[in-house]
Amino acid sequence: MCGIIGYIGKQDAQSIIINGLKKLEYRGYDSAGISLINDKNQVIIKKTQGKIANLESILNHKDNGKIGIGHTRWATHGKPSDINSHPHVSNNAKFSVVHNGIIENHEELKNMLVQEGYSFASETDSEVVPVLLEKYNQGNLLEAVRKVIEVLQGSYALCVISSDYPEEILVVRKESPLIIGLGEEENFIASDIPAILEHTKKIFVLEDDEIGVVSAKGVVVYDSQGKLVDKKLVKVNWSLETAEKQGYPHFMLKEIFEQPGAVRKTLAGRIKEGTVNLDLDIEVDKIDKIAIVACGTANYAGQVAAYIIQSRLRIPVLVNFASEFRYMNPLVDENTLTIVISQSGETADTLAGLREAKSKGSKILTITNVLDSSIPRESDYVIYTQAGPEISVASTKAYITQLIALYLFILDFGYRKEILNKELVASWLSELEAVPEKIEEILNRSEVLEGFAKNIKDAASMFFIGRGLDSVSCLEGALKLKEISYIHAEAYPAGELKHGTLALITKAVPVMAIATSKKLVDKTISNISEVKTREAITYCIAFKNVRDIKDVDYLFTLPDIIDELAPILTVVPLQLLAYYTAVLKGNDVDHPRNLAKSVTVE
Ligand code: AGP
Repeated sequence: MCGIIGYIGKQDAQSIIINGLKKLEYRGYDSAGISLINDKNQVIIKKTQGKIANLESILNHKDNGKIGIGHTRWATHGKPSDINSHPHVSNNAKFSVVHNGIIENHEELKNMLVQEGYSFASETDSEVVPVLLEKYNQGNLLEAVRKVIEVLQGSYALCVISSDYPEEILVVRKESPLIIGLGEEENFIASDIPAILEHTKKIFVLEDDEIGVVSAKGVVVYDSQGKLVDKKLVKVNWSLETAEKQGYPHFMLKEIFEQPGAVRKTLAGRIKEGTVNLDLDIEVDKIDKIAIVACGTANYAGQVAAYIIQSRLRIPVLVNFASEFRYMNPLVDENTLTIVISQSGETADTLAGLREAKSKGSKILTITNVLDSSIPRESDYVIYTQAGPEISVASTKAYITQLIALYLFILDFGYRKEILNKELVASWLSELEAVPEKIEEILNRSEVLEGFAKNIKDAASMFFIGRGLDSVSCLEGALKLKEISYIHAEAYPAGELKHGTLALITKAVPVMAIATSKKLVDKTISNISEVKTREAITYCIAFKNVRDIKDVDYLFTLPDIIDELAPILTVVPLQLLAYYTAVLKGNDVDHPRNLAKSVTVE
């Protein structure tokens, strides 16, 4: 998610903006920039790829100004680069803009403006805004902004300054957060509270379609009809640290609760009239095998996909941990499509696995969350997840958006290979579109998992059992619990227990059974009885409409969904169980011992 900061008042704008951007670094970004109106009434812009330290190295401290805006960019459209960084400027260099969100009709607007003689320097969607302001400017900045937002489609938080109007900053909010901080003869703007918390705790929260005119003397807010809005003053009582997590105690919990939005963003623009629109020009007829390569949680997302590709597309699938794949002389060739999954796009083992597959002639499809990171740069095709920066070491929203991307790929690939028909594709897509609300329904019952966590927190070991796709969800559930609560956990195919590991089941070993597979639920129920008779305390995740499962001590039900998509919902209670257990054990949830967010070494 990008970060925005703006200032107008009696102090030096440059230093306030740079410090504000530093308070937003935690959100993850790949470039940063600032623009000011200096005391010669010129728009000065400094921006660069990389960290804020890079930006500071190109600043000129003689650029004095009392009004300015700043931005940290998390690239989604247009790779990280100096020219793609914000702020962007109009052709006449009089309007400068920073933007969070996505202008969905930017291509059409760009073409219209080029026809009218305007030019563009960057690959971004955001640059259309300052150019439109130049086009519509007729002596009143508020009117020009109104005309611009009439033609914009998509989501945006905008901050606008202009040397024609050096006494005001215009701000607009549509589906991307923006707040105004109130000072004494000075005012602040930010995408969220940490950027301005040291200056003021009195804020206005802009609502969708509101426009704010911010000057040193005051703030005026209008609604979409141009009527004055009497904004409610909000007094912030957060510490800076809490503010970075937007009120959540940990990034992990924030990221778990961001999952509905992350799914919506990952689906956005990729479903058109009941078909998938991924824009991948994979030569499907040449592909007779699929390899999937990833590490950790990303590998489990791949295992879900492998199960469905095999069972529904009837195409052979190799799925391996990258650290193994790279040394196993894998059976991969020019007729194999290798799918590489990595949240960070920097995992060393996964990058090595990609190179191994490529060396054998395989085409590479990457699924990743970080634009232009090392792994997509070496791939033939890319599907970007739109989870936004994932700060917590334990992967949550990245996993769920990897699943979404994989389902979209399977439907697209299967349809284009004439294995899946239009009706099935359309029905699965409508199920996917209903996923965000179903995740929200689960999140609304998160206290149930907190209760489960109180029961299991002192266990030395826990089992996760399931069949089919449920056995893959068990792998992810066990990993989550291990990596942040430090409780040993083992994921085991439910049908395998009797072949040895049942010996480990005692009253002291809680068992989580995942029983969403409608065709295997009876078998899993009998496995629950199997462990119950060995005195295990049993937990179960199953659909609401499942036949009542008598032997389970604790049941968590899911809203219904087709079997193949169940892993998307099943993982949410598993994430919450791990999170609450780790909190109860007093662990450092976001930075678990021995672990790093991105493993860039072998
Ligand atoms: C998952 O919670 C862990 N953080 C870890 O397994 C992670 O998924 C793995 O290291 C892969 O990272 P990547 O997706 O960035 O390649």
